Amino acid sequence: MNLLERIGMPLVKRLDPEVGHDVTIRALNAGLAPRRGPFSTPRLAQTLAGLSLPNPVGLAAGFDKNAQAMAPLLKAGFGFIEVGATTPKPQPGNPKPRLFRLSEDLAAINRFGFNNDGMEVIAERLAARTDHGIVGLNLGANKVSANRTIDYITVLETCGPHVDFATINVSSPNTERLRELQGKDQLYGLVKGAQETRDSFNKRIPIFLKVAPDIDERLIEDISEVARMTRIDALICTNTTIARPGLQSEHGIQKGGLSGRPLFDISNAVQVEFAQRLQGSVPIIGVGGVSSAQDAYRKIRLGASAVQLYTALVFNGFSLVNKIAKGLDRLLDADGFNHVSEAVGVDL
Ligand code: FNR
Repeated sequence: MNLLERIGMPLVKRLDPEVGHDVTIRALNAGLAPRRGPFSTPRLAQTLAGLSLPNPVGLAAGFDKNAQAMAPLLKAGFGFIEVGATTPKPQPGNPKPRLFRLSEDLAAINRFGFNNDGMEVIAERLAARTDHGIVGLNLGANKVSANRTIDYITVLETCGPHVDFATINVSSPNTERLRELQGKDQLYGLVKGAQETRDSFNKRIPIFLKVAPDIDERLIEDISEVARMTRIDALICTNTTIARPGLQSEHGIQKGGLSGRPLFDISNAVQVEFAQRLQGSVPIIGVGGVSSAQDAYRKIRLGASAVQLYTALVFNGFSLVNKIAKGLDRLLDADGFNHVSEAVGVDL
């Protein structure tokens, strides 16, 4: 941690978690985070789904829901960031409190329910981007919607031309019945629809699909088939879990999606299932409980081409990002890998 983080983070941790998050977004915009930009070496830089990433350490969706801190987040060291989830209409999300810090477990539980400013406002912010980094958008659906599939397409139509990639997020546990869209026929239609919309843009942006960790083998099989048939550009494994694996914190009983350390093994297991089925035909971005270079390296050796993280930032601050990238470079070098891609899936 740098000096500012050592002073600022204990103060933020005393606040209600959601207020603390808003303060963090303001602090980023005030320049109170590392600003050196992403750490990069020839070993870490890669082209993933057509995107040139300086390093494989990305920011997971949900941190910058309203696209308000893109430039400082990229300067903090991420190789790529994902903003959103964005829905067609603005919506307030679930009643507060809806974000819980589980310090003893190095975890969080959230049940935000896609609170966001809506696609029109977010499209304006994306169109006004001045950063030079890779920014993707997490697509969501409104809680009250006549047709959720159309919601995803509408957000993509409106915001897609201003981003570098878009993620179909049918894996949030906090919007009732959303995860039913992971079913084979509906998912196929949704991905195809998104791809057709994307094909109408002036530039080709990759479309990713983000899956839940709470899925059985049959659903993993079905989603893998849809991923193969549609040639989705990448699979993001995974979103938060509704499982509660032996938590210590008093907040462990809260409803919502669990993220952070306890999600590491759970998300890895699901990632491995997909990696074994897809055999490199669809790149995987590994998410869930990454808080060190070793964690990122583990996901890569288990089949991920890149990783994303969120919850570990709450406990470690933004200096963690470049620390992970530097540590990853060292770990790859120590094992004789000249490029990160050589390590992808070696432990499968
Ligand atoms: C999330 N996550 C998330 N994912 C998504 O696809 N769309 C979203 O809007 C959100 N919102 C969100 C809010 C909060 C408060 C958290 C903690 C998480 C899930 C996130 O992108 C990631 O998949 C999980 O948090 C697992 O990664 P970590 O946090 O363990 O590194």
